Amino acid sequence: MAPHVSPPSPPLSSSASSVASDDGEVYDINVPYKKSGNFTKQPATPYPEYLPAWEEVSFPPIQPFTYDDPALRADPKKRALLTPSVTATDISPKMGTELQGVQLSTLTSQQRDELALLISERKVVVLRDQDFADIGPEAQQNFSDYFGKRHYQPVTGAIPGYPGFHIIYRDGNQAEIERFFEQKSTANIWHHDVSYERQPPGYVLLCMLQCPEVGGDTVVASMTEAYKRLSPGFREMLDGLKATHSSQRICDFARNNGGLCRKDPVKSLHPIVRVHPVTGEKSLFVNDEWITGIQGWKQSETEWLLKYLMDHISRGHDFQVRLQWKPRTVVMFDNRSTCHTATVDYDGVYEKERHMFRLASMCEKPICVGDIEEPESQE
Ligand code: SIN
Repeated sequence: MAPHVSPPSPPLSSSASSVASDDGEVYDINVPYKKSGNFTKQPATPYPEYLPAWEEVSFPPIQPFTYDDPALRADPKKRALLTPSVTATDISPKMGTELQGVQLSTLTSQQRDELALLISERKVVVLRDQDFADIGPEAQQNFSDYFGKRHYQPVTGAIPGYPGFHIIYRDGNQAEIERFFEQKSTANIWHHDVSYERQPPGYVLLCMLQCPEVGGDTVVASMTEAYKRLSPGFREMLDGLKATHSSQRICDFARNNGGLCRKDPVKSLHPIVRVHPVTGEKSLFVNDEWITGIQGWKQSETEWLLKYLMDHISRGHDFQVRLQWKPRTVVMFDNRSTCHTATVDYDGVYEKERHMFRLASMCEKPICVGDIEEPESQE
């Protein structure tokens, strides 16, 4: 359903930082939650029309929808996409492929289907030297909509007239980053994008507009591999668990700090292990950002299990990739079988604007292990 305009709310306050409120609460330093908290100087960006804006719109609750995954209609050999003139280079053995010789803006439907399959299989696809940043918001949004239902982020800035854009913009801003690190030892927040939705995004696209020469990498972990590394008995216990994911905290944070929350908080119960409808793989579906409880478990038990799993995921450098950005790089990742965190290390020598947009395409409701039929044993 399309967003609708609501009566204007009070003007945004300019007194508080976007990431550290007066009572000391901090959130994600990578993203602005209101204009005044992020811009410390006149933005110097080649893409001023993509600077974050907070339009007074509200998004109605998302109704359940049927999802038709483009990867499921793709040629398994990907002959339309991986032509002889295209080079596909694996970034790590477990995940990630860089494609050369492909322009996203010119892909046919068949090629998009095959790209979806490649993303499902390799989890992250990196495309350099794209003209995608220059094709305009209408074409960019249409491209993303091919992969699933458009998502509207409730609190972050979008571009005027295009509320489906989630703008990530940080202008270096030494003072604000220092203030953040007075309270936090690292900026990492391992998360699936908006996993609190009933049908969270499956395919997510990030397009870099401007970035520091060094720094601001995105680290992505394979949740499939993270799951496989656990012992069978532990996996079996996880297979039956469900967790509540909620957007309440981010909505409260935005509202308490002079920002907007354009959609009422959403809460969903999802399996801790989800099954991928394209690959059949099982993946951990836990993160540091959105989970508020495990069904039937006490808070102390929930905290213990989540701490164990998130330590396992964040320490698992052998099932992560660290993506380095250049302007005009586009990354598409599978939000079902990965989680990710940005790196905020570009203050000081490499201080520079980091400016990108995200478009997210929602997919199926996460599938529980108990919902699939296990193949019969051949023994
Ligand atoms: C995100 O966390 O959704 C964006 C990743 C990034 O800023 O690197």
